Parts: sequence; structure tokens; C-alpha cells
Amino acid sequence: MAKQAMRQVLSVASELAPLVKTGGLADVAGALPGALAPLGWRLRTLLPGYPAVLARLKSGREVWREARLFGGPGRVLAAKVAGLDLLVLDAPHLFAREGGLYLGPDGKDWPDNAERFAALSWAGAAIASGEAGGWRPEAVHLHDWQAALVPAYLRERGAGLRERGGGPGTLITVHNIAFHGLAAAEKLSRLRLPASGFTPSGFEYWGRISALKAGLVWADRLSTVSPTYARELLTPEFGMGLDGVLRARAADLTGILNGIDEAVWNPAADPAIRSYANPRGKPKNRAALCAELGIEMPAGPLCVVVSRLSEQKGLDLLLAALPRLLAAGGALALLGSGDAVLEAAWRKAAAASPGRVAVKIGYDEAFAHRLIAGGDAILVPSRFEPCGLTQLYGLRYGTLPVVALTGGLADTVIPANDAALRAGVATGLQFHPVTAGALGDALERVVALHAEPEIWARMQRNAMRHPVGWEASAPAYAALYEGLAARP
Ligand code: ADP
Ligand code: GLC
Repeated sequence: MAKQAMRQVLSVASELAPLVKTGGLADVAGALPGALAPLGWRLRTLLPGYPAVLARLKSGREVWREARLFGGPGRVLAAKVAGLDLLVLDAPHLFAREGGLYLGPDGKDWPDNAERFAALSWAGAAIASGEAGGWRPEAVHLHDWQAALVPAYLRERGAGLRERGGGPGTLITVHNIAFHGLAAAEKLSRLRLPASGFTPSGFEYWGRISALKAGLVWADRLSTVSPTYARELLTPEFGMGLDGVLRARAADLTGILNGIDEAVWNPAADPAIRSYANPRGKPKNRAALCAELGIEMPAGPLCVVVSRLSEQKGLDLLLAALPRLLAAGGALALLGSGDAVLEAAWRKAAAASPGRVAVKIGYDEAFAHRLIAGGDAILVPSRFEPCGLTQLYGLRYGTLPVVALTGGLADTVIPANDAALRAGVATGLQFHPVTAGALGDALERVVALHAEPEIWARMQRNAMRHPVGWEASAPAYAALYEGLAARP
């Protein structure tokens, strides 16, 4: 497509693969530009200038600056890195620190997270208003609470869609409603927020400022990352206190399923594994993985997990159900990091079952590929899961997903019930309710299915053929952008 024909979108995200990542948000924000370009939409992504990002900038053209940006000088550098069009917010007082993106060395949130991401949103609103050398996006795509103040700042500028019928329209995508971006009410003026917005119909949340709520109230359109999660979000069980706000905006909320980066997750051309184009290539990866982990080749399925260790992911339930998997003849390999109590519990589980359970605490991309290639089944027992990406990797690699019936897990796996088996379309297993008991039942069932080579092979072939890319979802985002650009 000719360059001048490209429509322009500003995307604002706090992490972006392959530069900086703590979870699936980075994967999705990193994949969208490539998925939307063939449809004529050029996404430029504004992200914080963390050390890991600045280290990748060979050169950058300054397109915006502010001498006193939430406590120090800030500027935005335009650059192209790893094929991505970036706008990097270089503000050393906010982002030039060693440690996590959101957590300090003590494992707690940085005390100035509210200011750090308010600054990101402030810069986003300035750029959206044409302050970056006159570049004017037609639509602004915000990701999670870290970018959610953009509509509030745009409103203040009078550039909001509803106010003027001018300025770019905004879309906020909820990747995870668990994180609200709360700040003390005393920070109101420091965060450059209008006192008039500090009400229950604005961004006040039980006496505090909620960045996410500001976005949910004032963005023009809302989306989340699966159709089922879009429905779940409207319920008290899943809405995490914001279900009322979302119900009021239900007409503007859509669920668009995530895709995966099929170039990075392609078993036929994956440099991290012994590549394969069909399930017959899996046994050599399984053998190599068992050798690497010191696991005895199990007669039953080798189950794998790649996950953050947090309450959300339900891996405490898996600890409780693990004896049933092992008793039935299965084995388990887990890669994850996060909650210290869960990390210790999983280390203990590995020590208690040498040769059957292997646990690696840490973050390791290449190892994640080897696990998913070598495993027979991938387990995702989440209490809630907006979309989830590892079950999609599992499908692509013929590693059958065993998932909780929730969120995007419900929308991506065809469970092996009698109807699906008869029709020959099953790709995995789902369990409900999300309890250790129901998970244990599912694990015994996966062992039983694994013992039926024909059924198992059929499911593997189905899984590998299941569409997991952006083919359906990229046009859905394009349609949303189109709606924002063609303002009333
Ligand atoms: P979430 O964003 O809630 O963590 P997702 O399934 O959407 O869940 O995305 C998680 C992403 O992070 C996937 O790309 C997964 O492979 C990756 N990941 C999670 N934990 C690890 C780990 N310990 N090592 C390597 N990759 C990991
Ligand atoms: C969040 C969710 C996860 C989703 C990811 C990308 O971190 O927990 O389910 O896949 O965002 O949208």
C-alpha cells in the first residue's frame, strides 16, 4: 500500500514486545501494528523510555518536549526499532531506573506510579492534539490503566470527541480489569486532573482517583480482549468493582479476541526447538525436554505451564490437583515467576517429586518455546482470563490446552465433549467450576484421552489447524478505528 494512503493511529502502551514485556499486553501492543498495516492503518506506539527501550534507540528525532513534566524534563523521541514506529517518552526522573516496569526492588509498586503513567497519558494527549510536529492521528488506541488518563486530558484540552466534534476519537482496551491505577485524592492537582472530575460519575473510585475509570467513562469506545470477557466484565463476579461503570457503557464495549505473533510462534520455523510441521515432530522435542529437565519419560501426558505466578492464574489449584495427575501417570513442567509464596510452594512441589515434576522460577522466552514444543498438554487453570495467549501457543504447537471455562479460554478451545469428539473437532479440555476438584477431574480425563492415540492425534491435528492469528481480529480493530475517525 502506498505510504500516503496509510491512515494514522496513536497507540499508547506501557509495554511493547519485543522491547519490554511483563505479560500478554506487550505481545498484543507489539503485534497490532503489524496486523493493522496490511489493512491501511499505521500505528505509532507511545511508550515510556525505560532503560531497555532507550538502549535500543540508535537515533531518535525529538518531536515534543516539556520542561517540567511531572517533576522533571520530558521529551518524546520518534524512532523506528524492530520494525515498530515508536514515540518514546524520555523522562529520566520517571523511567530511568533499574528494577521492574511497575515494581521497585522491594517488590512493591513504585510509589510514583500514578505520576509516571499520568505523564505517559499527558504526552499521549499532547501528541493526539497535534503537538508532535503537527502529526495528527485519526484515532487513539489506549491500553489499560497506564494510558487511561488520555481521554481526561483530551477533555481538558477541549479536543475530546463529544465536546467539539473534533480531535481524534479514543478507544480504550481493557487487558485486565484487576489493575485500576488507583491514587490518593491528594494527588489530584499533582496529576493535573480537574477537581470537577472527582465525582462518582467521573474518575472517583471510593474516595480515590482511578485512572482506569477515567478511561472507561470518557473514552469514545471500549474494548476488551475476548467476547466472553466482555460479557463477564458486566458482572459483579468479574468486574472488580467497575462492572457498574461498564454496564453503563455496554453499548460501546466490544470483545475482540487476541491473536498471536505467528512468526514468533511457528513450530515449523522456530529456532528454539527441533522444528516440526505436524504432530509427528513432537516426540523428539518431548524427549529433549525430558532430558533437559531430568524428567523420566512419562507414560502419561507431559503437562506444561508458562505463566505469571499470581492469584489470577489459579496455580495454587494446580498444586492441590497435582497428586491426581501424578497418580494417573502424568508429569508436569512449570516455568513462571511472581508471587513469592507461590514460587516457594512450587519449588517444594518439584523437590517432593523428582523425575516427575520440574519447576523453573524465572522468565525465559527460549525455554517457554521448548516447553510448549515438548509438552503434550498445556495447563491454564485461571480464575479469570481476559484472553490468555499460552493456550493459543499450545494450539499452534499441537500441545493440547486444558483450560478453565472463563474469558478468552472459553472462546479459543473446543472441549473434548462427546459431541465434539464425534464431530472430530475437539482441540482441548475445559473445566468448570474453577476449583482444584474440577481441575483434578480434567487432568485425569487428559490422561485418559492421551491413552487413545487416534483420538489424541486427531485433536493435535485439529489444534494445529485452529486459526490463532489476527485474521479475524485485525479487521475488527480497523472497523473500530474507522468509527472513531468518522466522527459524528
Ligand atoms: P498475562 O498477560 O495475564 O500474563 P497472557 O497469557 O496473555 O497472560 O500472556 C503471558 C505472556 O507472557 C505469554 O507470551 C507468555 O509466554 C509469557 N510468559 C509468562 N510468564 C513467562 C515466563 N516465566 N517466561 C517466559 N515467558 C513468560
Ligand atoms: C492481560 C490478561 C491476558 C491477556 C493479555 C493481553 O494481561 O491477563 O488474559 O491475554 O492481557 O491482552
